[in-house]
Amino acid sequence: MDEPPRQLLPEFEQNSRVADSPLTAWSPEMMRHVIDSELPDAEIILVSNREPYIHNLKDGKVELIVPASGLVSALEPVMRACAGTWIAHGGGTADHMVVDEHDRVPVPPSRPAYTLSRVWLSEEEQEGYYLGFANDGLWPLCHIVFTRPVFRESDWEAYKAVNQKFADRIVKEARGPDPVVLVQDYHFALLPRMVRDKLPEATIITFWHIPWPNSEVFSICPWREQILDGLLGSSIVGFHIQFHCNNFTESVDRFLESRIEREHSSISHGGQTTLVHPYPISIEWPPMALQSQPSVEECRETIFSRLHLDPRARLLVGVERLDYTKGIVDRFLALEQLFLRHPEWIGQLVFLQIAAPSRGTLPAYRHLHEECLAFVEDFNDRFGNDTYRPIVLLDEHHNQGDIYTAYRAADACVVSSLHDGMNLVAKEFVASRDDEQGVLILSTFAGASRELLDALIVNPFDPAAMGEAMLRAITMPPDEQRERMQRLREVVRTNNVYRWAGAMLQDAARLRKRHRAPGADNGTEAAAAIVSSTFLDRLLARRRQPPPNNVGRRAGSRN
Ligand code: F6P
Repeated sequence: MDEPPRQLLPEFEQNSRVADSPLTAWSPEMMRHVIDSELPDAEIILVSNREPYIHNLKDGKVELIVPASGLVSALEPVMRACAGTWIAHGGGTADHMVVDEHDRVPVPPSRPAYTLSRVWLSEEEQEGYYLGFANDGLWPLCHIVFTRPVFRESDWEAYKAVNQKFADRIVKEARGPDPVVLVQDYHFALLPRMVRDKLPEATIITFWHIPWPNSEVFSICPWREQILDGLLGSSIVGFHIQFHCNNFTESVDRFLESRIEREHSSISHGGQTTLVHPYPISIEWPPMALQSQPSVEECRETIFSRLHLDPRARLLVGVERLDYTKGIVDRFLALEQLFLRHPEWIGQLVFLQIAAPSRGTLPAYRHLHEECLAFVEDFNDRFGNDTYRPIVLLDEHHNQGDIYTAYRAADACVVSSLHDGMNLVAKEFVASRDDEQGVLILSTFAGASRELLDALIVNPFDPAAMGEAMLRAITMPPDEQRERMQRLREVVRTNNVYRWAGAMLQDAARLRKRHRAPGADNGTEAAAAIVSSTFLDRLLARRRQPPPNNVGRRAGSRN
């Protein structure tokens, strides 16, 4: 058999610049090895708005919460493996109580592995920077979901000030002149430049966890030039998929004076060169939350008895933050279509929607919450009765253990994002199904659809077709489920979060080596070095691989 056609290869394989075979599963040890061997003297500082552990005061006691955040679930295992410092907003009501005099606390609390350094924000700062510019401006700007972005001058001022505050903390935490700084997400578009000004030798890798829009959409942002300039303070800017890299490069091309070298995926601006690369994010493998899970049968019994479901019923599950980008009402509309076209399923099918409240003080989020509640009530009146509720909406925070139990209990998981950078729920569902059963229904507008080709790929704007996909999922024969799930699991196993982080750190290491080489100060040269060494790595990796006709032999025999 010849090599599979390019369009059938998942995008990560087409773009992968990781110096290992795609069939190798990365582990925390491998990532630590990359750090020890390639970045032996580097200190790793990560910065994100959301903290990995929140301490809240409840009934006079300190309660620990792991927030519902794809960013946290991806990065927490990475930080556990590389033992650096994570700087984040201390937003919990008891966060102040557990830090030392430098606002630091060792985490995870049960088994400390790295340091959490908390930054305090006033109500006004949160209002302007987080709720305002980040979530009322950039969030709708970057997601094409027809929610109008709102840009207020006062939010922009707060955003700049808070970016500066976090940049100052990075400089304060840094022990030497050239730390590796991992900047996370759209909350910190200006921060890379601010850090670069103070620590010119730092290696700054910025990862944008959400989509980047095309340049026409981006052009409506009144501070577009400053945002692009801020991000180009980074050594590397990463996105989940090549498409978003292209959109970003196109935006720079249109609005900033720069030199773009598409061959090297590099942008030179203001005397500095930035690489723009795709790094598809993932989850840890095997996930920690799976360790304490009982068998799939027990999970099913637990959920079915908790929800008072008929044991013969089929169960669909959805898990997200209550966010208008996630297509929550859209999946209910699909269920409605299924019931209207196939009424024999009324009474036989239940949709369990777990939805953690999020950003609730913003009107768009409040409306969505109200809309969901009203929709579900009306839906259950129409299709349900005293003992049967076709949609169960649990609009509260759930811990990872409970979420994994729900994944394992379900016949199918529905991820119907209207637009999503990656979507880690899709990958978590796959990771949770060590019984190799269950079907993933996945939006074509989630980055994950580029990798998870064995899901049922749907257009969330087409409720009739999505309803048919739900039907196909709940009637799919176990053998087909197994074959699909085996292939999905192989993808998530090999492309786990350690590979994602390892790829970025390897690229960072190569850049540092280049910059430190005598006489080398040219970013473009460094970029070329990454591209050529990567090409070589890939060539060597390919030689180490089994011949292409073994690619199909990836059933999860080692799972
Ligand atoms: O990945 C997108 C993202 O906005 C993260 O940055 C964030 O942690 C997560 O979703 C949850 O949102 P928030 O931190 O605003 O609750």
